[in-house]
Amino acid sequence: MNDFQDQLAAAIKQAELPIERKWWHTATVYQVYPRSFCDLNGDGVGDIPGITSKLDYLKSLGIDVIWLSPIYKSPMDDNGYDISDYQDIAPEFGTLADFDRLVSEARNRGMGIVLDLVVNHTSDEHPWFLESRKGPGNPFRDFYIWRKPAPDGGPPNSLKSSFGGPAWTLDPLSGEYYLHLFSTRQPDLNWENPAVRAEIYKMMNWWLERGIAGFRMDVIDYIGKQVDREIVHDGPHLHDYLQEMNRRTFGNRDILTVGETWSATPGSALLYSGRNRHELSMVFQFEHVTQQWDEMFGKWRSKPFDLVKLKSVLGKWQYALSDDGWNSLFWGNHDLPRAVSKYGDATGYPAESAKMLATVLHLMKGTPFIYQGEEIGMTNVPFTTIEQYRDIETLNMHRLHIEAGLSPEEFIKGANENARDNARTPMQWSAAPYGGFSTGVPWIEVNPNYPTINAEREMTDEKSIWNHYRKLIALRKRHPVIVYGIYQSWLDSHPDVFVYSRTLDGERLVVVANFRAREVPVELPGELRMPGECLISNYEPVDRLDENLTLKPYEAFAVLARTL
Ligand code: GLC
Ligand code: CA
Repeated sequence: MNDFQDQLAAAIKQAELPIERKWWHTATVYQVYPRSFCDLNGDGVGDIPGITSKLDYLKSLGIDVIWLSPIYKSPMDDNGYDISDYQDIAPEFGTLADFDRLVSEARNRGMGIVLDLVVNHTSDEHPWFLESRKGPGNPFRDFYIWRKPAPDGGPPNSLKSSFGGPAWTLDPLSGEYYLHLFSTRQPDLNWENPAVRAEIYKMMNWWLERGIAGFRMDVIDYIGKQVDREIVHDGPHLHDYLQEMNRRTFGNRDILTVGETWSATPGSALLYSGRNRHELSMVFQFEHVTQQWDEMFGKWRSKPFDLVKLKSVLGKWQYALSDDGWNSLFWGNHDLPRAVSKYGDATGYPAESAKMLATVLHLMKGTPFIYQGEEIGMTNVPFTTIEQYRDIETLNMHRLHIEAGLSPEEFIKGANENARDNARTPMQWSAAPYGGFSTGVPWIEVNPNYPTINAEREMTDEKSIWNHYRKLIALRKRHPVIVYGIYQSWLDSHPDVFVYSRTLDGERLVVVANFRAREVPVELPGELRMPGECLISNYEPVDRLDENLTLKPYEAFAVLARTL
């Protein structure tokens, strides 16, 4: 059954059955970007022993699952998203023994490790690609996607790389082009080749045997690509491959899987995560991210923040996956700007707005993901020159945009807002040099605000952002209404305030949040006015929802009431 409509109809039918409860519904996931988390040996690059040394920190925050961005052997063209050996660790990060120790130390504390599965492409230094390049007769030739040049000698078609320029590079050795939807050093694997799929499944099982708790799957919506038809995402066999993967690897294990799917729609999310689909636990959808991008210039030119639009996108996903499938909840990751800089007010109301954003996100239905440093309110980095940036995407785009006539100042302005390095500066542990990240010079500059924004300071302040996150994570464990309650939005067209409710078994949780740096009056609908227990707030507790409220700048709170 490959027809999208049939698949969707079947998924919707399944949705009439009650949801099966899973451990990861109640879990909170923390993403670690290993290069920038903690450098234990002082070479300026974060490492696995560094992560292990911070497990108690993560445990005290309440984290259940740690997703590691790639730690495999890699020439680091794209910071590890270019893998040259799937079954070894990058030497700058440590050894397999270090990894096994991390898994067992995490398990001792009741936490699981989720690995980043990057199988759309490999590094050009992967032995499969080295063989493949040798020419059309090589047994590994079809592990990748090779095509003859167009009649004029140019690329076979007009597919583009996400990092700029054509997705095809000519290899002089055979006179053919290979496909790379990312950098020239990230050749795309050919998923149509069953031998490729078999190798990947074998590798996944090898990691599963080592005791990992799941996979985050990099650009997984690309693996069904059909390049000759210029189809990149949502190819006709995408879901067949995922079902096959599920059957042949993790299907019988109780793990968490989350697909990175920039193309996901509420309909396709049901295919990925619907019960009895046997694909993934959930996907990352990016509609709330991309709706803020410029139609022409994408993220390099941002649009004014539109709360009504944001509410409608988030709400659409809440409603679409309310009875079947499952949502992931996130503001940031290693590819996105810092949440407080993007959606809050990092200069005027950093603590209030960071807590407000956390409240809104964590009390929706889905599994929340925290990106490292978000829990201490880390902000975008104020780099002033292109030399301070390290990210391949930013460097490529800089070159292309300057060639196209953009001024360097304009480019830096866009990069300051949206470049990936905003999320990749070292984790700020303390006011010590380099934010306590390393004793050596870090591979990328530390954000200069580390003396005031750091974990040590946050952990000792009872009213900190960190303690607010900790409370939200604990509330999720105590109140099933946060995990399973039915979502309903209110005041959809209110330009400044986000109001929603969650209802389950005679309880109703109402969440009210002001997205502005000023006082905002709000008139609550009659149904919501009632006394209750304030579960969390970022100012004084509010225990009565009255008709007329005046919300303080970035004020947010949640009130739990009995409705029966
Ligand atoms: C994903 C990753 C990103 C990486 C790209 C190519 O989008 O999150 O960091 O550059 O895939 O692997
Ligand atoms: Ca190191």
